[in-house]
Amino acid sequence: MKFITNIIGEELKVFESKFAEAVKSNTALLDTVMKYIIKRKGKQLRPMFVFLCAKLHGNINESTYRAAALVEMLHTATLVHDDVVDESMERRGFFSINAIWKNKIAVLVGDYLLSKGLLLSTTNNEFEQLHIMSDAIRQMSEGELLQIEKTRKLNIDETVYFEIIRNKTASLLSSACGVGAYSTTQSNEITEQMKLFGEKTGIAFQIKDDLFDYGTADIGKPTGNDIKEKKMTLPLIYTLNNVDKKTMRDIIYIVKNNNTDKEKVKWVIDTVVKTGGIKYAEQKMFEYRDEALNILKQFPSSDVSDALALLVRYTTDRKY
Ligand code: IPE
Ligand code: IPE
Ligand code: MG
Ligand code: MG
Repeated sequence: MKFITNIIGEELKVFESKFAEAVKSNTALLDTVMKYIIKRKGKQLRPMFVFLCAKLHGNINESTYRAAALVEMLHTATLVHDDVVDESMERRGFFSINAIWKNKIAVLVGDYLLSKGLLLSTTNNEFEQLHIMSDAIRQMSEGELLQIEKTRKLNIDETVYFEIIRNKTASLLSSACGVGAYSTTQSNEITEQMKLFGEKTGIAFQIKDDLFDYGTADIGKPTGNDIKEKKMTLPLIYTLNNVDKKTMRDIIYIVKNNNTDKEKVKWVIDTVVKTGGIKYAEQKMFEYRDEALNILKQFPSSDVSDALALLVRYTTDRKY
């Protein structure tokens, strides 16, 4: 991380003040919530990808800053909404917005952030940026909805899992890399290449997030939430495909009917570990990481490409 902040540390500082400025509101309640959000900022991985992908191909400019702010605003909006959908009470080590202000306000706060992001683009005539990002928002909604549909029927296989995570998570990282590169090149070809790089990274990123859920480490948000929400992720999908019929039926029954029973959920998790579900998901995660790194190798090597490679590795080696 130190190496990365050496390269884009100044930009990240400027970004933070621009972000805070962009989400200000004259409505007292909204402003209170925005201040709460700014104080509890996340890892800011997406702005880092925007800046590094921009810098890999040219000079960071105002358009790059707008891209970074837009991406982080949309990311924040989706987190606020996601915690409503997942009924999750903790985010970034503190109470989630819905935990403090309840669902109604969280839904409207998410909408506010989304609209402020869109306005940032339109007022500056950033139509290509807006086009790329709007498509990501569409995909994210589709991904989250497909996920809900699958939690109802519990008929999810690996192909569907990857479709869900490509849509709900990788699409935003993909467009972050795309808008970053576009801001310094205006080249559609480079933008497409960087989008693919971001997509691979984003898939690895979500597999890591799903692995966290099987652990017990303090990651600033609840663990064990996925089974409770009937979300079947890669470790569990692999396990269901690799155990005998009875174990498979037992697991599905628990996910469906006993997902808040600590003992039973623990048995499911132990079975996942024993069957090699965690190992398998890790292996898949590293495959996607390496695909991203290979795309990066197409470009001339530099400090910036080294920093990007480090950031990709960070998405799979991170502790939270
Ligand atoms: C969390 O993303 C949401 C997922 C897509 C898994 P991050 O882990 O990047 O969240 P923050 O912004 O650092 O809190
Ligand atoms: C990613 O999925 C959420 C979004 C794409 C907004 P999760 O539901 O697993 O994310 P966390 O674990 O709540 O951060
Ligand atoms: Mg969630
Ligand atoms: Mg998660």
